[in-house]
Amino acid sequence: MTSAARSEAPASAQAFDTLSTLLHTRYSCRAFRPTPLPRATIEQVLATAQRTASWCNAQPWQVHIASGGTLERLRAAFAAAAPTAPTTPDLPWPREYRGVYQERRRECGWGLYEALGIAKGDREASARQAAQNFTMFGAPHVAIVTSDEALGVYGAVDCGAYVGNFMLAAHSLGLGSIAQAALASYPGVLREVLGIGADRSIVCGISFGMADPDHPANHFRTTRADPAASVVWRD
Ligand SMILES: Cc1cc2nc3c(=O)[nH]c(=O)nc-3n(C[C@H](O)[C@H](O)[C@H](O)COP(=O)(O)O)c2cc1C
Repeated sequence: MTSAARSEAPASAQAFDTLSTLLHTRYSCRAFRPTPLPRATIEQVLATAQRTASWCNAQPWQVHIASGGTLERLRAAFAAAAPTAPTTPDLPWPREYRGVYQERRRECGWGLYEALGIAKGDREASARQAAQNFTMFGAPHVAIVTSDEALGVYGAVDCGAYVGNFMLAAHSLGLGSIAQAALASYPGVLREVLGIGADRSIVCGISFGMADPDHPANHFRTTRADPAASVVWRD
């Protein structure tokens, strides 16, 4: 286990501005340049994300990073499985998006389709775009994030925080990334190609690399609800 020197919080306006800017400018990248990243850059991202807080400091995340030939094998295996095979995620999909959650889900889908010139109701074109998930949107790397199966929901919560920090660290280095629950659709494919055991729950993937800034899929941005909509104050 790596021990870190005791560090004090950098309580400064500059630290807040930096973090705030990163959070406001990060977006999910859905088109990448194929050029692989230097290993040292990926290690910087991993070292930063490793600082994620977790229950009991268990740090249940493990990441399999597929690049090069392994990534090509993964793409080929997904092409053979998706989209016809039934999905069998290790962690249950959301049961239902209801009310405001359904509205936000639609809004973000339509935003993407509008950027891509896909008309509302064009199921064929939207299915084609969804299938891009299984090409990792052309990224040179994908990190498959797994949790210890015995840690259940809270292991997945810890991994979710890790995913957020991974993406933020990547963004701080000028990289594009996207979390992909879609990649958890076919755990058998991931287990076979990457050698992931049954003791690991597959949480999601993160495709990452240099963004293709010219691709229209990277030209739309999602909004957020007013924070007040997510807070209940009780004094
Ligand atoms: C856990 C998680 C899973 C996601 N899975 C997918 C996915 O399978 N495919 C996809 O295109 N986007 C996926 N996304 C990206 C979200 O759609 C995106 O984060 C959200 O719309 C907000 O947009 P932003 O990331 O650009 O701010 C996922 C995001 C998270 C956090």
